[in-house]
Amino acid sequence: MNLIDIVNRPLNPAPWAEGEKIPWDEPEFSARMLHEHLSQKHDAASRRFSTIDQHVAWLHHTILASRPSHILDLGCGPGLYTSRLAQLGHTCVGIDFSPASIAYAQASATAQQQHCRYLQQDLRRADFGQGYDLIMLIYGELNTFRPNDAKLILQKAQQALAPNGQLVLEVHTFAAVQAMGKRPPTWVAPVSGLFSSQPHLRLSEDFWDATQNAATRRYIVIDAASGQATRCAASMQAYTRADYHGLLTACGFTDIVFYLALSDRAALVDGDYEVIVCRV
Ligand SMILES: C[S@@+](CC[C@H](N)C(=O)[O-])C[C@H]1O[C@@H](n2cnc3c(N)ncnc32)[C@H](O)[C@@H]1O
Repeated sequence: MNLIDIVNRPLNPAPWAEGEKIPWDEPEFSARMLHEHLSQKHDAASRRFSTIDQHVAWLHHTILASRPSHILDLGCGPGLYTSRLAQLGHTCVGIDFSPASIAYAQASATAQQQHCRYLQQDLRRADFGQGYDLIMLIYGELNTFRPNDAKLILQKAQQALAPNGQLVLEVHTFAAVQAMGKRPPTWVAPVSGLFSSQPHLRLSEDFWDATQNAATRRYIVIDAASGQATRCAASMQAYTRADYHGLLTACGFTDIVFYLALSDRAALVDGDYEVIVCRV
């Protein structure tokens, strides 16, 4: 991509037209992203450990009634939830397509002799297996899939749950996705960052597609030494509560209940997210 391509870029990209996601699954990007998952300075990629501890306590006590369970974490990242759930006596499987995150999760499970198994696979194509008491997909990742892929993942989760098994989704609210699509453009010029370990300029711009109810964020990264620009983009589908209800019902889920957070604690409510718990 040259600078003139940036000048001539489309100003209303169709959702998912410029890429599926940020490159979670590229080895170098995933190694840089692993640092963000593990950082205790911010909640990007994964929440800080103090919050994860409270989420895990809620899953264990409120959702699983402290019964040892078979759990599948979709988009598990470096296994920060599965490792804690395993310590509480659950057996866990984590699926993620980030090589650095899966390597970290696997190494932690081996070092701590935990009952966790990790698969480096794309959720859209992975075989989820069978017989889970709980399947979780959190931190808004469901919204980042094209609607057909989100439905496919939910259908596969429905098939993989044991009778009476539960699905826990943490999703973005409609308003949060819409607000993302209406953010003003920004730029930063770090010496190194998530998108490149070399000095670069990163331009970000956001778009809201009111026809498809989807937000798209486009990133353009310009290498300071060569002037070469690369582009990637990530889109998010916005769903109302009625949309989530309809989608889950169409995928065979029942007893659909909405919560404010993965916790009872008011301090952990983040208005950009909501939690849905349902059963097969
Ligand atoms: C926001 S992070 C959340 C990680 C973890 N659930 C947590 O809260 O700590 C989203 C995760 O989903 C994974 N992911 C995104 N799309 C995926 C796909 N198509 N297949 C497998 N993993 C995917 C990413 O690699 C990343 O680890």
